[in-house]
Amino acid sequence: MIRPTSPRVTVFHNERALAHATAQRVADLLARNPRVVLGLPTGRTPVRLYRELVALYARGRADFSQATTFNLDEFFGIDASHPGSYRTFMVEHLFGRVNLSPERIHFLNGAAPDPQAECQRYEDEISAAGGIDLQILGIGTNGHIGFNEPARELAARTHRVRLKTETRRANAALFGGDPGRVPPEALSMGMGTIMQARTILLLATGKSKARCIARLLDGTVTTRLPASFLQLHADVDVLMDEAAASEVTSAPRRAAP
Ligand code: GLP
Repeated sequence: MIRPTSPRVTVFHNERALAHATAQRVADLLARNPRVVLGLPTGRTPVRLYRELVALYARGRADFSQATTFNLDEFFGIDASHPGSYRTFMVEHLFGRVNLSPERIHFLNGAAPDPQAECQRYEDEISAAGGIDLQILGIGTNGHIGFNEPARELAARTHRVRLKTETRRANAALFGGDPGRVPPEALSMGMGTIMQARTILLLATGKSKARCIARLLDGTVTTRLPASFLQLHADVDVLMDEAAASEVTSAPRRAAP
């Protein structure tokens, strides 16, 4: 296979080293461009990254005061203040702990009466902000990014989506451990929304991600593995720990410094 220049693959010894390096990269970007527009994920994977960013902020090494954020997705049918909402997650892990300005924090409203209009509003706000400079992504065990689930067709723009059983199971911890209480639908940035970000960092940790990471890097692009579309983007870093990288054979691996 011809070696691509993107995605670049970097393997860290462990989750801690990955989070540390990624937080430093975000802090450097904030220093270079204080008005940077960040796209942010939820899930277990970015928790350590957010902890590191909070620590950098506390030491005066990261300043979010001029930055703008857009989160990738939100459950549909619940209010932002619901304990299981992604908004609540972000307040707990990042928004409530750094100096982001509330008016520059953007989120899809899962309780919007007109979801289509809500999705359009989000697209318009991303455009008005000048687009996303750095989009940070996690990955679902089935290869989803945001809530773009594997399917025959994928949506390009922000849209309402029905969640797969495995995705509701993976998100059960936010709803008292009961997959049945996870909302069956969500609002999510589309594939085009994500792909228009200037730079993308995909973070993956743990053995459960090894299979889909190997497929993501195998050179084919398929709607059955939405993350495989990242191979079409010119500036993507796939950052992972040893466990997530354990099944990668086809891509050149760079060991983290
Ligand atoms: C969720 C989110 C994704 C996230 C993924 C992985 O369903 N919508 O944005 O990347 O699951 O989550 P985790 O990091 O907990 O494995």
